[in-house]
Amino acid sequence: ASLVQVMMHLGEMVTATQSLPDETLQLLGEELKYNVEVVSPEDEDRELLESFSIEFGENEGGEESLRPRPPVVTVMGHVDHGKTRLLDAIRNTNVVSGEAGGITQHIGAYQVATEVDGEERKITFIDTPGHEAFTAMRARGAQATDIAVLVVAADDGVKPQTAEAIDHAKAADVPIVVAVNKIDVEGADPQKVRAQLTEYGLVAEEYGGDVQFVDISAKQGTNIDGLLEAVVLTSDAALDLRANPYQDAQGLAIEAFLDRGRGSTATVLVQRGTLRVGDSIVCGDAYGRVRAMLDENGENVEEAEPSRPVQVLGLTNVPSAGDSFLVVKDDRVARQIAQQREARERFAQQARASRRVTMQNWQDA
Ligand code: GTP
Ligand code: MG
Repeated sequence: ASLVQVMMHLGEMVTATQSLPDETLQLLGEELKYNVEVVSPEDEDRELLESFSIEFGENEGGEESLRPRPPVVTVMGHVDHGKTRLLDAIRNTNVVSGEAGGITQHIGAYQVATEVDGEERKITFIDTPGHEAFTAMRARGAQATDIAVLVVAADDGVKPQTAEAIDHAKAADVPIVVAVNKIDVEGADPQKVRAQLTEYGLVAEEYGGDVQFVDISAKQGTNIDGLLEAVVLTSDAALDLRANPYQDAQGLAIEAFLDRGRGSTATVLVQRGTLRVGDSIVCGDAYGRVRAMLDENGENVEEAEPSRPVQVLGLTNVPSAGDSFLVVKDDRVARQIAQQREARERFAQQARASRRVTMQNWQDA
């Protein structure tokens, strides 16, 4: 019998070239008296790192070593509602800068400072708007974001991608701050946005709910500080963001590209530990020693603590957005891990290609 026929016997209609969900493969294995073990890529990678005595994704050192870290924020919303304009407005007013007058450059993420209750508070924004980046990273098991800023244009109201963005934030269990944008436009109706969003379970504080709504104009720069304050307050109320800055750094690649002069250039977000120039790191299947780090002003940075995004120079090749990075003992370990990942990926690609052929052959036999 062909595999397709076995599947029909099991009550599943499939085609010969279709890939199957894990549960179905398990069922098929039972029927054919094979022991099917499904290993996720995440588990496989965890095992690889464990073989080097590395634990990824956990703070080391227990409670005492944890220190507060800034929230990491993603901006989402419907097309043309002003995400890019807002990210520009925020960075132009408040980018944390070592020296005044630095020219900001796009590195995929930036950190700003704002004053709340007389205290300076930092916020990290991931500067790749649109939920593609957000979902792409989440699909790879990487959660970069702590808070979502949902941009809704007050002259247009809630739209399909507004609803999608809400779904994504809810699936990721990330609190939402609503930026009601374009209040400068004639006919803008911020209250209507509040009313519409109650249907999605987002109820403004002034209506007895727990969601911060902030009316802004990204174009005119109106009330950007109010929005930043709302982000800090939401973070304080809903989240307990702490990380151990004393361990070897771990985190995520936000974006990466090949620069003609500098070579591989990767913006990484430090999630735990402190990243330093000279560290040996592995990021996806790229590895190397951190030759230099740059901030959003293009200035050199010697070290980066949790929630800090920096551009890293010195990797052998270009990692993908969403790849995890970690500091390891030395270059040799970094290279070994990277090479094993690369080999595994090559093998998985071959397996994907040959599985189709196998299914087809079964049917033809
Ligand atoms: P996509 O990336 O295409 O999804 O759009 P976006 O959400 O990034 O919107 P973008 O920031 O590009 O803004 C869309 C248009 O709205 C641009 O022409 C902006 O100048 C304009 N715009 C954004 N914010 C405001 C605002 O507060 N007031 C007014 N009047 N126009 C705005
Ligand atoms: Mg945009």
